[in-house]
Amino acid sequence: RILILDFGSQVTQLIARRVREAHVYSEIHPHDVDAEFVRHFAPKGIILSGGPNSVTEDDTPRVPQVVFELGVPVLGICYGMQAMAEQLGGKVEGGHTREFGYAEIRAHGHTKLFSGIQDFVTPEGHGMLKVWMSHGDKVTELPSGFKLMASTPSCPIAGMADEDRGFYAVQFHPEVTHTVQGRTILNRFVLELCKARPDWEMGHYIDEAVEQIRAQVGDEHVILGLSGGVDSSVAAALLHRAIGDQLTCVFVDHGLLRLNEAEQVMETFASHLGVKVIHIDASEQFLGKLKGVTDPEAKRKIIGAEFVEVFQAEAGKLSDAKWLAQGTIYPDVIESAGKGKKAAQTIKSHHNVGGLPETLNLKLLEPLRELFKDEVRELGVALGLPPAMVYRHPFPGPGLGVRILGEVKREYADLLRRADAIFIEALREMIDPTSGKSWYELTSQAFAVFLPVRSVGVMGDGRTYEFVVALRAVQTQDFMTAHWAHLPHDLLGHVSNRIINEVRGFNRVVYDISGKPPATIEWE
Ligand code: XMP
Repeated sequence: RILILDFGSQVTQLIARRVREAHVYSEIHPHDVDAEFVRHFAPKGIILSGGPNSVTEDDTPRVPQVVFELGVPVLGICYGMQAMAEQLGGKVEGGHTREFGYAEIRAHGHTKLFSGIQDFVTPEGHGMLKVWMSHGDKVTELPSGFKLMASTPSCPIAGMADEDRGFYAVQFHPEVTHTVQGRTILNRFVLELCKARPDWEMGHYIDEAVEQIRAQVGDEHVILGLSGGVDSSVAAALLHRAIGDQLTCVFVDHGLLRLNEAEQVMETFASHLGVKVIHIDASEQFLGKLKGVTDPEAKRKIIGAEFVEVFQAEAGKLSDAKWLAQGTIYPDVIESAGKGKKAAQTIKSHHNVGGLPETLNLKLLEPLRELFKDEVRELGVALGLPPAMVYRHPFPGPGLGVRILGEVKREYADLLRRADAIFIEALREMIDPTSGKSWYELTSQAFAVFLPVRSVGVMGDGRTYEFVVALRAVQTQDFMTAHWAHLPHDLLGHVSNRIINEVRGFNRVVYDISGKPPATIEWE
């Protein structure tokens, strides 16, 4: 396995990701771990990440000395390179200009890291790489034993290597996709230079995780808030595999779930997997608290607070529970670790139903905290969860509470659930002939929104005066920005007909064609 030491770069998690894509297990740890930890970890190789600091200043992070003494290959990236250079006797200077973005670098000499890897050759016969750079400081003098590995006109030492000791360093970022050969270079380092075995797969992960959970929990009891979402579902399945009946899940139905969702969750977990699940129908309570409330943020806060209350009351009854399990995944860990950053303005408070307070006095168990979302999905399938559940579009914690504009009423929620189910069913059914995929797979998130305004329509001989339902479907990589999906008109027409014919209460269907920004994905 590979140890990644984090010096605070925004893209450190991408290093882990690339290494795991090579089927090699890796973990990210802070740069200041102690020597004992590093020895015990017994890495086949170490990667030093980039970071925002300058090694030209005194109290900035340094590489633990043990890294250079273990006798395993080390790859320094950006700040990692500068720290390596400085600590091994080279020289680093603050640049007057920052170099940021695309660059072409020349590979020098023959190193095991770059040999045979290039994007193009110059007329003079130099092998060149197209890379992504982001740095102010640069190495200006090689440490002894090192040779030049790469250069650009503005950064004469853009890569260096001491091949006898297996130390390599690059000023650019191989982990980002803008560096065309980045993946090839990292694969070369991990597989050929470190000789790490490419044996990391879900099966192994399950065995290791099960063992670790058992060791951690012993014979104590664990509770978990199951929402039906991917993360808590996979966490539940994994814990159940590890500790069976020592796990109790609490599933709080706030009355704002999708059509038949509560039944499906109970069916999958309780009937199919045999997990102990307590199903609490708290819809009366939630809807009661939401009565008369129209402000989106107020609604989110009420739903979040209510969830905590219901869960806490239930947890209190399970007196022998010592652990609270949560489906925290790796990107959540990274996000909350970035506490130094100035908090972005709150657009929506994103109350995740599941963010529970410390007052429960339980120890925290987070079995997915090292996994990325796609790994979590793969794990879910490997644990026997239905792929349709594991690959479901995301659903916000407050549920239909933020898809019914203004005041939430049971009657509105019932209408919306049916319209939404028709839309989703049609997306799953219609296959795009070019890609062979369903429109459900081709969109990242799709749903219906209840608009509490009435408009006039005509049905048969009669006038109608009913509500409007909006359809929303977006395509996005990260949900930070999104495009509205260009759904086929046939599909939209079919959904509109079905909703108006089958859901008495709507006489008008509209399609949302706003991007994010300026709109958001949810309407509230
Ligand atoms: P927006 O509407 O902010 O949504 O563009 C981005 C993504 O976040 C989801 N979302 C939420 N998820 N609690 C959640 O757990 C919330 O309060 C919440 N609000 C929005 C939304 O569904 C989309 O995937």
